[in-house]
Amino acid sequence: MRIWRIACMVAVVLVGASRTEAEDAIKIGVILPYSGVYASLGGDITDGMELAFELYGSEVAGRKIVLITEDSEVKPNVGLTKTKKLVFQDKVDLLVGPVASNVAGAMRDFVHNAKIPLIIPNAGNNLLTGEKCSPWVIRTSFSNDQINRVMGPWLYAQGYRTLYLMAPDYAAGHQMMEAVKRDFVAAGGNVIGEEYPPLRETKDFAPYLAKVKASQPDALYVFFAGRLAIQFVKQYHDFGLKKEIPLTGAGWLTSPLFLPAQGAAAVGFTGALNYVPTIDSEENRAFQEAFKNKYERTASEFTVQGFDTGRLLVEALKATGGDTSNKKALVEAMHRIHFNGPRGPFRIDPATNNVIQDIYIFEMQQVGYNVRHVIIDKIPDVQDAPNGCAM
Ligand code: BEZ
Repeated sequence: MRIWRIACMVAVVLVGASRTEAEDAIKIGVILPYSGVYASLGGDITDGMELAFELYGSEVAGRKIVLITEDSEVKPNVGLTKTKKLVFQDKVDLLVGPVASNVAGAMRDFVHNAKIPLIIPNAGNNLLTGEKCSPWVIRTSFSNDQINRVMGPWLYAQGYRTLYLMAPDYAAGHQMMEAVKRDFVAAGGNVIGEEYPPLRETKDFAPYLAKVKASQPDALYVFFAGRLAIQFVKQYHDFGLKKEIPLTGAGWLTSPLFLPAQGAAAVGFTGALNYVPTIDSEENRAFQEAFKNKYERTASEFTVQGFDTGRLLVEALKATGGDTSNKKALVEAMHRIHFNGPRGPFRIDPATNNVIQDIYIFEMQQVGYNVRHVIIDKIPDVQDAPNGCAM
């Protein structure tokens, strides 16, 4: 439905425009999952971008902004093939995507060599703003390390001494668990078990949960998103493990995108994330209201990442007079853009091209009839070290 709407939007813009107008459009190639395990994330990011164009401008210097969307299917080879199609066939000016770290890894060399700016609105692959950074790859979302490393020392300070880790078996899962493990162990804690179920094939967590129960860690630390997050939270609840072994992890687990399906099963989870819908600021309230008016649901962290990506693009295009031929000037303009968005202060670090942002630690609580993200701590201005990045 959503893809149809976007495809339609593109068609309407081009059909409604004269030939020169259509040729003159600023074409943004969007490569996100609209099917597969992370399909809903791609939808939320796209909705967030559309809202940003509505609020900040869908035309710059007389040139219409047109999105051309492609489904990555959360598959690295598909992501790369569709990226090449967007560049060679559609001749896009800029790229936005992807959601998954493995797809981002597959796209990186092509984008770097083609010298086309790629704005990443989700995939946290550390390498793309570390060892394999590129002047053409800018990330508005997070790095996998940035979200998770704050939780190691934090959990230790709460009194936890042993952790069990669980995440999908691909780059993001391993990088996130590595980040929490590194600083938890440095603080004096122990990781007593790790499980990495397959990303696309896992339908049942029962065998993994049986192992966690048998090891009796002080807490279980997980990363799951999309269909896996919904399934995991429900099964953890049904297993009755929550009272015995506290559930902690990367905050996507109980995203507003998955919460309607999880309901009260999400209560008790403690997570870290770059955005929760309960942030108490004027910017966030205005954003949530605008999003609800347009889409009749609560905006998620994925929506915010799409929204901030759209805003960054529009502001950079305005700063360069809508000129997309000078890609270097566009990226430099992005480095100069700072704003207070729904998640708080937002800016791109020119040393790595990764976003610098606040990280929120929250607990899922039942508040009246609602299950809410209650913020219990905030780590301001979290910035990655260059980690081998030299541009
Ligand atoms: C990733 O693959 O980088 C990712 C996917 C979903 C949520 C967060 C990170």
